[in-house]
Amino acid sequence: MERVPTGIEGLDELLGGGFPKGRIILVSGGPGTGKTVFAMQYLYRGVVDYGESGVFVTLDEPVERLDENMASFGIDLPKLREEGKLSIVALNPIQFVTIRPGGLIHIIREAVKPNVKRLAIDPLTTMLLQEKDPYQQRLDIMRLFSTLSELGCTVVVTSEAKHATLTRTFHVEEFLADGVIILHKVILKSKVIQALQIEKMRGVTYDGQLRPYQITTEKGIVVYPKERIIELE
Ligand SMILES: Nc1ncnc2c1ncn2[C@@H]1O[C@H](COP(=O)(O)OP(=O)(O)OP(=O)(O)O)[C@@H](O)[C@H]1O
Ligand SMILES: [Mg+2]
Repeated sequence: MERVPTGIEGLDELLGGGFPKGRIILVSGGPGTGKTVFAMQYLYRGVVDYGESGVFVTLDEPVERLDENMASFGIDLPKLREEGKLSIVALNPIQFVTIRPGGLIHIIREAVKPNVKRLAIDPLTTMLLQEKDPYQQRLDIMRLFSTLSELGCTVVVTSEAKHATLTRTFHVEEFLADGVIILHKVILKSKVIQALQIEKMRGVTYDGQLRPYQITTEKGIVVYPKERIIELE
């Protein structure tokens, strides 16, 4: 299986080299766990370290806000856009209501040119909220994922987890994605510790233990692949 290095420090070691190429990876976590930073960092490292173009589809934050947030990590998104290396498709939830999942699929198809290797959609949850019927929701996700698979990109899709703790319910999108990474917040002796867990990654062997991570200004998300979270109570 060919691999796509994420460029996220420590994560590629857990993955045994990177994401399986051409697959759809879901990154799930509670508020502020770093889902957007993760998705953006994956695209950014793709451009800088591997010369791969990316497309970021945002379904919650406007472009200006993303530009500002990423600038705080030293990432110059407007420059990358000018150079044609990383484009952003921004749809707010109100626009989304009118286009429905079918419209989103169309927009993504248009935006992903043949040279694009990395795609991120953040967060998928906006799309799921529209559909109350679980069966229809599953069909919508299957339709979207099947289109994404045809694009030839390796895709990161984020989703908002309802439960921030380790005991949690599973979401339909987790069953349909090829890989799932969970960003947890763990309380350990009254301290909040952030931990990353690879829940599944079809077709490859990986380290599925909880590993601590931090969001740093210098490097964005950094995972500590050798450290353990102990005394979980
Ligand atoms: N410049 C920075 N340096 C270090 N950490 C930062 C910086 N900017 C943001 N952070 C951290 O990143 C977190 C936000 O990450 P991010 O926006 O990716 O979370 P999210 O999971 O997408 O949240 P949401 O569910 O609200 O969309 C903040 O809570 C903060 O801890
Ligand atoms: Mg976010």
